[in-house]
Amino acid sequence: MQIKVIVLGLCLYLTTFIAVADATKVTESPVRVCSSEKLQAGLSPEVTLTAVSLVGAGPLELVDLTPNGSPTDRSIVLGSHCLIQGRFEERVGTNGKRYYIGFEMRLPTEWNGRLLYQGGGGLNGVVLPAVGRHTTNGSSTPMALARGYAVVSTDSGHQERNANFAEDQLAKINYAYAAIGKVTKLAHQILSLARNTKPERTYFQGCSNGGREALIAAQRYPELFDGIVAGNPAFNLSTAAVLSHYSTRQYWQIAPQGSDGQPVVPRALTESDMSILARGILDRCDKLDGAEDGMVFDQGACDFDPRMLQCSEAEADNCLPAAKVETVRNAFRGPLAPDGAPLTNPWVYDPGVAGENWRAWQIGTENENGEINTRFPDMVADSLARYFAYPALSAEDLETRTSFSVLDAIAPTAAITDATSTQMSTFAAKGGKAIIVTGWSDPIFSAHDLTAWYEKLTRDTHEAGFGEASQFARLFLVPGMNHCSGGPALDDFDVLSVLDEWVQSGKAPDYFIATGKHFPGQSRPICAYPKHAVYSGKGDYSAANNYTCQ
Ligand code: BEZ
Repeated sequence: MQIKVIVLGLCLYLTTFIAVADATKVTESPVRVCSSEKLQAGLSPEVTLTAVSLVGAGPLELVDLTPNGSPTDRSIVLGSHCLIQGRFEERVGTNGKRYYIGFEMRLPTEWNGRLLYQGGGGLNGVVLPAVGRHTTNGSSTPMALARGYAVVSTDSGHQERNANFAEDQLAKINYAYAAIGKVTKLAHQILSLARNTKPERTYFQGCSNGGREALIAAQRYPELFDGIVAGNPAFNLSTAAVLSHYSTRQYWQIAPQGSDGQPVVPRALTESDMSILARGILDRCDKLDGAEDGMVFDQGACDFDPRMLQCSEAEADNCLPAAKVETVRNAFRGPLAPDGAPLTNPWVYDPGVAGENWRAWQIGTENENGEINTRFPDMVADSLARYFAYPALSAEDLETRTSFSVLDAIAPTAAITDATSTQMSTFAAKGGKAIIVTGWSDPIFSAHDLTAWYEKLTRDTHEAGFGEASQFARLFLVPGMNHCSGGPALDDFDVLSVLDEWVQSGKAPDYFIATGKHFPGQSRPICAYPKHAVYSGKGDYSAANNYTCQ
């Protein structure tokens, strides 16, 4: 018996030693790292760990990983890791409702020394599996946890996906920004307890609301983050909500009525109408980058106007009637301010407008039973009522007020939520790097709005005497890509590796290579804005190396 105990002890000791010797970075025995007692004892009593367990290597089915709860069929293979779930800042908020900040952390047994904060989606409210989700769902490379990153995710302070928390001050502050600082500090503490060290580098990566959070991380917590990837960021969420609300209303006006007398928005513009629009954009602008390949890289030179597609007497096909043309023009232009100037930046005329994801958000789909799913009213415009408005705006208010007046009413919440600041001097000075990537055809957050912000960042940084913004922040625009993937686009790329390389080497990326299922066999450089890919005129037009960034 005694011999057995000694042998077992020796085995445990050797396992620990081998784990330390084998790992690339600081490691300990996975069992010691993953001890609930050890972690709980070192944390403040206000943090409750609800689960700590060692997860063996193997596949993980991701049933709920994407923002907004869209199902995903992805299954990923992970190495062994410690799963830690918990909550802190438990309290009773407005109207007697319980709130806390829920979090999940996964620490890989073979840790690469880095921490990744995985951003959320929509209005958050759920703790998604902390696996290090990509900014694009099209990416075929392993997620960050499988590459050795420790990953943390959070519900950001309320516990219902479509919660109405407009009236709770702290829930609002946590969603807007504060949970980011709180959760990052907690994650650093947990790593200190589990691994006796802080991470060498801390990154933030997210798409959509997660992209907004990534920019907030760089803008409001510059001392905590070494790098961020902001995918299709909801960075100007307040304005985006007002623009979306306005555009949906335009489509309503030409939508035929259903049997219940209500407008059937998905029928306002049919799939064929959207294909005609996309074809018209391609006919006008595809060749501007030197390759007629179904992608418009030179968006800056694209002067498409839907009026170019208006039906004349002679043509019945491949054209749009005047009412649809004017509706599209108004919806794309967006609302006007009282002085008649555009209140927001417009939507982009890019062939991705014929993408399924674009349709799902902006116009909606109708199934065989006539059930309609238009995401704008449910997810974007509703955020005005469920989150932004204080005091509350009724549905009637939203219908009768002008966009200008709604924007004015939500300005205080916009001020804490929108990641529109251009002051990033501390982040830049400490060597922080930001990669911002979006689709030219993002149907929720206009790419024109993002380029306008980036241009302002460039101007303000220069005028303030801090040099070139491109030294710390680079924007990449993917032709055709919809929200966080999809559309007629090359949406398979890996920007986390690009960020890590930039942070480590200090050499700024001029482009990254994208491929994608929509265009099999094609690859292109996605160039740092304001440059874009141009075909050299020689060699295979399918291959990225025959393009330059100009
Ligand atoms: C998103 O994270 O996907 C999202 C955020 C705000 C509004 C709509 C969608």
